[in-house]
Amino acid sequence: MSEKRVIITGASGLLGRAVLSAFKCSQWTVMGTSFSRTGEDLVPIDICNHEETKKLVKNFMPNCIVHCAAQRFPDKVEKDLDGTIRLNVEATKNLAVLAAEFGATMVYISTDYVFDGTKPPYSETDITNPLNTYGKTKLQGEQVTLEASQDHIVLRVPVLYGPVEYLGESAVTVLLQLFFDSEENKLVSDSEIRYPSHVDDIASLCVNLLELKQKNGEVKGIFHWGGKESMTKYGMVQHIASVFQLPMNHISPDPYPSQGASRPHNAQLSNEKLEKLGVGKHTSFREGIQSTLALWIQRKKLEQI
Ligand SMILES: NC(=O)c1ccc[n+]([C@@H]2O[C@H](COP(=O)([O-])OP(=O)(O)OC[C@H]3O[C@@H](n4cnc5c(N)ncnc54)[C@H](OP(=O)(O)O)[C@@H]3O)[C@@H](O)[C@H]2O)c1
Repeated sequence: MSEKRVIITGASGLLGRAVLSAFKCSQWTVMGTSFSRTGEDLVPIDICNHEETKKLVKNFMPNCIVHCAAQRFPDKVEKDLDGTIRLNVEATKNLAVLAAEFGATMVYISTDYVFDGTKPPYSETDITNPLNTYGKTKLQGEQVTLEASQDHIVLRVPVLYGPVEYLGESAVTVLLQLFFDSEENKLVSDSEIRYPSHVDDIASLCVNLLELKQKNGEVKGIFHWGGKESMTKYGMVQHIASVFQLPMNHISPDPYPSQGASRPHNAQLSNEKLEKLGVGKHTSFREGIQSTLALWIQRKKLEQI
């Protein structure tokens, strides 16, 4: 049996697709799981079903699991708390315990939303204080992961973007929609500060971290990785307008905090610990957003012909 066998949960999602592809390119034997979406490369499973999940792990015998599956839309979490706890906490616990039982390392993907955003930048040892239910369930997910095994890894990441199946799939790509209804005046948040990361950067980090873990068992516990450029949503819109030369006279900055579930003002993650391990890479926002949105802009132009 190959020594490098990995299960990626949530492999149909925004991050999971990039993680699946990165492991495939790195000669790992890979199983990607989905829930409602289908695909040649995907095994559909409800990870809230603990028995089915156990069978899957037992049959595949991974030495690593990258756990991307989650409910991650803060407003949906508030509407379905029970379902969110089943997925973000209970299914995570089951997977983390199974991984430990079968001698596998689990990487649990977490979020900068475990911090309240009042004292950035945050290091891995800083005190957590999630402001919304999403952040609370993700923090509980971290706790059950590390309780199952001190050898597991928690990787906290900021807002993500990259190739999307629909614009609303990422909090960054959704902003392109503002340019498509250009008649109407729009207000965009210029309050909360974010450090967006391209999903390919996080995916290659997962591969590098787990390859390092195979050589050095001391790679364990919590790690942070965030983008290097700070921007509000309005700042992201300005970048998009500049990269694609789109008019934005109808879009104005909104200085007030966003509506809906409370969000941290600035939960910048310090990358120092991972930088010392020499495993991360950063795609610049201009380069990343160019490659992510070019096709969508082209499509829109074709529709207008
Ligand atoms: N996106 C961000 O900006 C962001 C920021 C910080 C942290 N994170 C974290 O990064 C991780 C990945 O997020 P993402 O953006 O890739 O999420 P996503 O695009 O919403 O994908 C969620 C994935 O979970 C799967 N899933 C949902 N319910 C399931 C169930 N009951 N059983 C099995 N799988 C289930 C979905 O499958 P189907 O689609 O097939 O139903 C999908 O593959 C999450 O842990 C999230 O908390 C994301």
